[in-house]
Amino acid sequence: MRPRNALRLLAIGLLGWAAWRGTTDQPVATTAPAIQLPRRRVLFLSMAAALLFAACIVFGITALQRSEQRQVAHAITGGDPSRAPELMIRYGCGGCHAIPGVPGATGRVAAPLTGLRERVYVGGVVRNSADNLVAWIVDPRSLSPRSAMPRTGITEAEARDVAAFLYTR
Ligand code: HEC
Repeated sequence: MRPRNALRLLAIGLLGWAAWRGTTDQPVATTAPAIQLPRRRVLFLSMAAALLFAACIVFGITALQRSEQRQVAHAITGGDPSRAPELMIRYGCGGCHAIPGVPGATGRVAAPLTGLRERVYVGGVVRNSADNLVAWIVDPRSLSPRSAMPRTGITEAEARDVAAFLYTR
């Protein structure tokens, strides 16, 4: 969940808590005394229901956005992002880059691989396009001869999966 949504949920929760605290424990007057419920409990239950509802909406929207991003990434790169984490571990990308979503990828040699979609250039030398990103991942020095990033041996098809993954981050 994005931090903004988490903050919204927290705000709703705090409001509910404040409303709940502000009430007394007086029973709600009804015509049938047998079904009297303490006001606090009614308020608490409705706040809990509202929170649950809000959480479902937030999670639903987040899931929808994610799946859309994956489809777009697949469409522009032809790769499958779900294969990428394993590939990035195998080719040691995480030794140099921090990569969210890839276990153990905490390298500090180069910049973290986040927000690739928003970049204008790849490696600071070629326009950011799916083909250029794939070409960079396969052989960075073919585009930037003095780059410190080496060839890792990753194939072009594998690099497409990695590029698709990076465009979903
Ligand atoms: C030995 C360290 C090292 C390894 C291993 C490594 N990289 Fe890099 N990578 C770098 C460096 C350094 C740069 C910045 C290079 C430059 O700008 O010339 C870079 C840049 C990049 C960029 C361009 C980022 C940008 O901001 O434009 C991408 C994408 C990238 N690496 C992906 C990968 C992937 C995927 C792997 C694994 C297949 C990998 N790297 C493995 C060191 C490494």
